[in-house]
Amino acid sequence: MTLIEELQALAKQARADLKEKRAENLDQIRVAYLGKKGKVTAALKAMKDVDPADRKTVGQVGNQVRQEIQGLIEEQKQAQAEKALAKQLAAETVDVTLPGAKPRLGNRHVLQQIMDEIEGHFLGLGYQVIDDPIDSPEIETDEYNFERENLPKDHPARDMQDTFYVTPEILLRTQTSPVQSRVLEKHDFSKGPLKMIAPGKVYRRDTDDATHSHQFHQVEGLVVGKNITMADLKGTLLSIMQELFGEKHQIRLRPSYFPFTEPSVEVDVSWDEVTADTKPEDIRWIEVLGAGMTHPNVLKMDGVDPEEYAAFAFGLGPDRFAMLKYGVEDIRQFYLNDMRFLDQFNERGN
Ligand code: PHE
Repeated sequence: MTLIEELQALAKQARADLKEKRAENLDQIRVAYLGKKGKVTAALKAMKDVDPADRKTVGQVGNQVRQEIQGLIEEQKQAQAEKALAKQLAAETVDVTLPGAKPRLGNRHVLQQIMDEIEGHFLGLGYQVIDDPIDSPEIETDEYNFERENLPKDHPARDMQDTFYVTPEILLRTQTSPVQSRVLEKHDFSKGPLKMIAPGKVYRRDTDDATHSHQFHQVEGLVVGKNITMADLKGTLLSIMQELFGEKHQIRLRPSYFPFTEPSVEVDVSWDEVTADTKPEDIRWIEVLGAGMTHPNVLKMDGVDPEEYAAFAFGLGPDRFAMLKYGVEDIRQFYLNDMRFLDQFNERGN
């Protein structure tokens, strides 16, 4: 067999190999033929024995064979890559006709809904809403939470509010009343009276049970101006109660005690609607909030002259409202984040 025949035989064999082993390791085939110790390389080593007159032709055939094998390998590589890509594309096809996964829609918590309703009502009456961490911090000082609310350190009424202390002077606020002082002491009366509400979380060292939670909510209200009277307080409370319970509900004020108001009242709202025909003895009353005319000491401590200005304040509990309004018997339900419970108060109507 001449060298040319030998090279042509190698080319034929390579074609066959590449056909057969389509998906096989192309690199192995390349090394087997064209590598340093490959078959074509070995055959070409015999060039030195070829008659110099024939060398050119043999060299050309050698090159052709080389190029052919190289070309075939490239072709195969390309074909394999295309096949792999097609396979991947097929696997990753998205069926755009499939129905999408419905995202679960969020919803305001029932307590948030009530607080927003209260806020909306008072915004409509021209009140400011204070709920920033500077004027309404949940971690308070003893001074603002108690002393500025007319509750000095040895005052027995401190027992009304079991407190979480961080240090002897710093605590988790037990009421939103300290926000009154924080805002009032900065108020510029040349710009008019102060009308504010402060919604927020409060904390008490209570053991959780059906009617107590160590954390709950309050919405504080404060109005300071000239000639503010108890009648203004009553009218304001009647308007918010009718907003929350319905227009036909009435309120009644009963004397009570808070250290920072004098006189102080507890406010009841009628459970049923009251009409001209309702006999007073048939009305069922439920207690909903505490309120009163701000104590002159509190005004003085906040830098306001009680001879010139008067004020009323109230503190209402959204948790209690929600319990009454929706017949929820256990306050802990509001804090368990059980979707089955919370979804009953969704605003989507389903
Ligand atoms: N801060 C009182 C409480 O938590 C409620 C209250 C607020 C009463 C304002 C009167 C005036 O019990």
